[in-house]
Amino acid sequence: MIERIHLAHLPTPIDALPRLSRSLGGPQLFIKRDDLTGLGLGGNKTRKLEYLAADALAKGSKTLITTGAVQSNHCRQVAATATKLGLGCQLILAGGEPAEVQGNLLLDKLFGAQIFYTSKSNRDKHLQERFEQAKQDGMKPYLIPYGGSNSIGALGYLNAMQELSEQGLEPDWIVFASSSGGTQAGLILGAHLTGFMGQILGISIEYNSDHFSAQIADLVNQTAMEMEYDWSVTPDEVLINDSYCQAGYGVLTPAEIEAVNLFASTEGILLDPVYTGRAAAGLLDLIRKGFFKPEEKLLFWHTGGTPALFAEPYSQGLVK
Ligand SMILES: Cc1ncc(COP(=O)(O)O)c(C=O)c1O
Repeated sequence: MIERIHLAHLPTPIDALPRLSRSLGGPQLFIKRDDLTGLGLGGNKTRKLEYLAADALAKGSKTLITTGAVQSNHCRQVAATATKLGLGCQLILAGGEPAEVQGNLLLDKLFGAQIFYTSKSNRDKHLQERFEQAKQDGMKPYLIPYGGSNSIGALGYLNAMQELSEQGLEPDWIVFASSSGGTQAGLILGAHLTGFMGQILGISIEYNSDHFSAQIADLVNQTAMEMEYDWSVTPDEVLINDSYCQAGYGVLTPAEIEAVNLFASTEGILLDPVYTGRAAAGLLDLIRKGFFKPEEKLLFWHTGGTPALFAEPYSQGLVK
């Protein structure tokens, strides 16, 4: 049984989006604000870290070590968690060292993380090497996988589904950004455990759905197994739309630019260029194509990421 520590401001609010709904001619839209989880500017990873950091503390670890892109929201939230708990933090960031320190990277440094740069292809190898080195150096490291997406991190979104079930809104669809899969795996398992009747639709940020839905199904099943809960899903029960990630990870297209601008100009809500901007672009496209029924209620689950708005190359491309 994994204990949980409190890091996030929960429950996160649910707001209606009437001006956005009207501008699209329906359906009814709502947003769940996990960009407001609080710690270190918030985001979805803080929910996962309530379980991952609890496990690290239970094991007597002294250093959190993880990996992500240079503008990783995950790494920024790990760095904030480490600081709050008085632990060290090592981040293996994929991509070259940028000329200017902006956005998430700036926050990583404010939180005192030790940063190592690597290439995307060497990311996991470098993470493992750093972990071994930190062990030898007596730093008692705790390795958090890419995106915090393992059977411990997924518990954060299982718990989030429990939270939603107590908030009184029963959406027909939950739509959100899915990337390393832990958020979706937790939502799927939590939906089953709470008797949620709607659909859970991940908009893929990076991966094609055939491989990705199998990976998420594995994570759901592993998490259920470790909870000694006898239930499983098959990949075809995992709803992933991969139509909006074909430009590649972190590539800003007119679709993300429109989504970020539309949410900002109708509702005063900030999305991020890489994850929530892409997921919202998918949501807008599906609404315009008539994918949802007019009477359905849609919940867009905001997963955070706004610090990347303030970083090159995104900051310039977003406004005219
Ligand atoms: C802002 C934001 N939204 C969504 C995701 C995707 O969550 P997951 O990796 O659990 O699929 C991430 C992952 O880094 C993220 O930073």
